[in-house]
Amino acid sequence: MEQPFLGYIPSAADEDALWHFKLFNTFQVFCVLAGCAAVLYFAIRIIDIVCDLWFRDSIPVESFGADKGYWAVVTGCTDGIGKELALQLGDKGYNLVLLSRTQSKLDGVRNQLLAKNVKVDSYAVDFSCTTKEQWDHIEQMVKSKDIGILVNNVGVCHPAAVTFVDESPTMCKQMVDVNIVTMMKMTRFVVPQMRQRKNGCILNIGSWTCLKGMPFLSVYAGTKGFVKTFSQSLAYELKSEGITIQHILSFWVASKMSGYKKASVSIPSATRYVSSVLNRIGLMCGTLECFSTVPYAPHSYLAFVCTTMWDARIVPPILYSIANNLYKLAKKKRLRLKNKQELVL
Ligand SMILES: NC(=O)c1ccc[n+]([C@@H]2O[C@H](COP(=O)([O-])OP(=O)(O)OC[C@H]3O[C@@H](n4cnc5c(N)ncnc54)[C@H](OP(=O)(O)O)[C@@H]3O)[C@@H](O)[C@H]2O)c1
Repeated sequence: MEQPFLGYIPSAADEDALWHFKLFNTFQVFCVLAGCAAVLYFAIRIIDIVCDLWFRDSIPVESFGADKGYWAVVTGCTDGIGKELALQLGDKGYNLVLLSRTQSKLDGVRNQLLAKNVKVDSYAVDFSCTTKEQWDHIEQMVKSKDIGILVNNVGVCHPAAVTFVDESPTMCKQMVDVNIVTMMKMTRFVVPQMRQRKNGCILNIGSWTCLKGMPFLSVYAGTKGFVKTFSQSLAYELKSEGITIQHILSFWVASKMSGYKKASVSIPSATRYVSSVLNRIGLMCGTLECFSTVPYAPHSYLAFVCTTMWDARIVPPILYSIANNLYKLAKKKRLRLKNKQELVL
């Protein structure tokens, strides 16, 4: 027998009211089912993230030739995430090819690795203005070794929040050269030998700004969008040839680039972050982007919230208004500095 709604059941004679009553009942059942489906969907996604983070097996970072004389190449390896990648890949049993800009810092990382009995080959190069001779030298360095892992880590960002038209064309070109061109060239150098061996791994360090763009960091966000889609496309092309390509969707990490000096739960130290990166190869950990991962646990939950609520009407307006405030602060700072300089002159 049907339950009365607010104590009222229309009589069979009142056909119109009875029709509405049945429609309302059907609607109620539909809402309950839709609610259950939504709860089930979110529950499955959270369980999936927890499984990725704590229970599922990742592709072991050692499986690309650690302790067998294979080499790992890391670009931008003298600071932050890149330096940690070099040190931790050395600990895992890889020899290291180090490519970065500042010779003295390169020597520092080299010495740290040599002290751990890791073989090292290093080369100082500025990827924003690499000459043909320098590219030839790097190609030779890489092709003469068995490369197990390539990490395309080097990246540059706008020095401060700025509108696209106010950013210098030189800075824009540097971002394209360092963040995009370098990644493509390095990938081209290593893929043929990985293909032949049917084994190898390429990790491309991306950024959360690739998800929906970032006003006032437009060129950086655009280059990281390229990093994401390039990695995804190539990952599919080369999957059947035994090559693992992973886009690392990074949120904030304490480093020179982010400007965060102190690590916290949401902003890990580079050491902690890199350990998550190397332990979660092949797992998605919260993102819905294919061939991508958000390897650091608190960031995985953040990615889950962002992607779940990523309706164009909810998250982007919040994000964009934060960007707008940062831009206003940066603009004020620039003005203050300019006034100070004028006073000194
Ligand atoms: N930190 C974050 O919160 C964050 C968030 C999302 C994504 N990411 C990405 O993570 C990667 C590493 O970032 P990070 O925070 O570790 O950066 P970082 O601390 O600024 O270190 C950058 C490294 O790259 C080198 N480098 C910079 N410009 C170069 C150039 N033109 N030629 C050669 N080497 C150059 C630097 O060398 P020098 O020592 O000579 O400066 C340094 O070793 C980047 O791709 C970045 O986009 C970082």
